[in-house]
Amino acid sequence: MGFIQALVARKRSRRRCSINTGGNTPVAFVNGEFLPLEQATVHIEDRGFQFADGVYEVIACFGGNFLDLKPHLERLKHSCDAVHISLPRPLYELEALVRELYARNSFSDAMIYIQITRGTAPRSHVINKAIEPTLVMTVRALPEPSERKTNKGLSAITLADFRWGRCDIKSTALLASVMGRYEAMAHGVDEAIWIDESGHVLEGCATNLFAVIDGSLVTHPLDHRILGGIMRDMVLRIAENEGMSLQQRCWSLNEPELSECMISSTTNAVLPLCTVDDRAVGNGMPGPVAALIRKRILAELDALRTG
Ligand code: PDD
Repeated sequence: MGFIQALVARKRSRRRCSINTGGNTPVAFVNGEFLPLEQATVHIEDRGFQFADGVYEVIACFGGNFLDLKPHLERLKHSCDAVHISLPRPLYELEALVRELYARNSFSDAMIYIQITRGTAPRSHVINKAIEPTLVMTVRALPEPSERKTNKGLSAITLADFRWGRCDIKSTALLASVMGRYEAMAHGVDEAIWIDESGHVLEGCATNLFAVIDGSLVTHPLDHRILGGIMRDMVLRIAENEGMSLQQRCWSLNEPELSECMISSTTNAVLPLCTVDDRAVGNGMPGPVAALIRKRILAELDALRTG
């Protein structure tokens, strides 16, 4: 590169780095650069595109304060370690980048998406260890659940689990979840719930599942068949503070004492699940346990907004 070209390239990159929306164009981060979203691209030979060879996180921010940022970054490291992708930056640098990206955008309540792929290389199943991982981050406004979802609860169908055997890794290979949500949409419901070969409830396509059974809050134990949801942890912490009885065990939808179900995820907090496979859960109305846990979570999110 000649001197003039180098100078122009440096000026361009400085201009890119000082981008701050102040307006409506979202800013993304790609491999060291902050860019307007429409200019943020990766190579077609990125292994994320070719093989879904990558991992991700979705983190919520309320008025500038992040919900459980460190646990999200630690789970990102767990996912990277599990698939032998080296972290492109130490966690403290990732944290600073996430904060900077939020600051460069104009959303108050936001969700930050981080994706790390193994990097770009000519397409081959064999891993070339010399390549650098790709790091992409985007920000979107955090959607509010509709009144229908909060007042009447969600509906779902069940599907036999046909995903891979490492659901504890937050992999970008989400085709099974996409197909599950397609089936849900085709049935006119909100979520599809994965059921194991013994009839136990695992989780939803993008949510963890809880039930109230004989007065206890029950959820599938942490293992390779579910994602260890950050909101799942928050629900367990809140339930414990409320003095509820907790059970992390396998459970099924036809247990006779089951009175309530609910979903949890970072982007939805907790929402009651009132209909599954066209049958009412409990009395078919949002139950008191889901309502109480949701209320406590929303209070914590409000505290983040004002904190
Ligand atoms: N999904 N289980 C699955 C399979 C998920 O994809 C998610 C989250 C959860 C809940 O995890 P958390 O509480 O950490 O959000 C459980 C995110 C939101 C997504 O894919 O967009």
